Amino acid sequence: MVRLSLILFFVGALSSRAPITLGQSTDTCALTNPDGINTFTVRVGSPLGNIPLIHIQYDVNRKLPVTSTVLYDNLNLVQNVERVDNFRNLECGQLTNKQQNCGNTMRLSVAQKSKVNSEYNSWDRGHLTPVNPMRFSAEGVNATYYCPNIAPQEPWTNRCPWYAVEERTLSRTKSFPSYVITGTCASDNAVDGNTYYNLTVPDCFWKMTCYVDPTTKETQVVGFISENRLISSTGKDSGRLARTASTTMPRSQLEVLNLMGARTSLVENAWLEAERVLTEGRGTTGLPSAATCVSIKDVSAATLADWTAFMKLHKPPFDC
Ligand SMILES: *[C@@H]1O[C@H](CO)[C@@H](O)[C@H](O)[C@H]1NC(C)=O
Ligand SMILES: *[C@@H]1O[C@H](CO)[C@@H](O)[C@H](O)[C@H]1NC(C)=O
Repeated sequence: MVRLSLILFFVGALSSRAPITLGQSTDTCALTNPDGINTFTVRVGSPLGNIPLIHIQYDVNRKLPVTSTVLYDNLNLVQNVERVDNFRNLECGQLTNKQQNCGNTMRLSVAQKSKVNSEYNSWDRGHLTPVNPMRFSAEGVNATYYCPNIAPQEPWTNRCPWYAVEERTLSRTKSFPSYVITGTCASDNAVDGNTYYNLTVPDCFWKMTCYVDPTTKETQVVGFISENRLISSTGKDSGRLARTASTTMPRSQLEVLNLMGARTSLVENAWLEAERVLTEGRGTTGLPSAATCVSIKDVSAATLADWTAFMKLHKPPFDC
């Protein structure tokens, strides 16, 4: 009863101030908005108790996530459990028949197979929010394997330059906490087409991190964009070198927003929801204000230089 009246009080307080904007939700199985976006938060058990871990805005028509948002702080540096694959649909009536079947591998079409090295038979089932930052608990790891957090991804790009972006973004948490959004670009990969079983492939992936620079005390937003077209070259060939250079290059929020078509408001919503929803139970100090994350569209030369140097400290796996 206490709980119910608290909830009613909270809902009442919200609605008396302003209408609830579309896309706000702490439900694990919310209604889909008229524009086809289903928004939900995945909660998990952790050393801090039950916490909201991943905020997702999911496109039920394209069957692809638009954004997957998390908060990185010291909890994400704890590595207590191993990675255990468990690709599966989110159990939610709203999303029945509206998820890609990520339980199966995402097989390459015949034409696509001829474009890549023989070692690859499938698109990678690419995580938006990755596994490694969630190794503080088995439930945390598990939560990253819901299909609405997965999209078909160019396999070499995922394992090499995109892995570098993921690893470096997490590694920065040793110096400062951040909000991190990972998204798919608005356009489909029309050059390579859908997967063998007709799953939609996004044309690119992106990641943005928003944090307060510990030296200047200024809020910064730094982004990365990863093309998702198949590359055919082998070893240290030019296609892979070019893909590595473009994927690991730090960029401005504006460059990312330019890839989102009519959906830039969902990126704005993701920053605001990160602050509103994901801070619960974390006790994180030193986070930026979400409104400032929304407003910082450009990136200074000094911040680009800082990230460029930091990216170079990544140790790639031997076969990259
Ligand atoms: C992971 O999710 C599955 C449901 O798909 C569940 O059966 C299992 O208990 C979960 N494991 C953990 C450690 O939470
Ligand atoms: C493939 O998927 C698209 C949606 O992405 C759908 O419109 C089309 O009918 C599907 N084609 C087949 C052969 O299933």
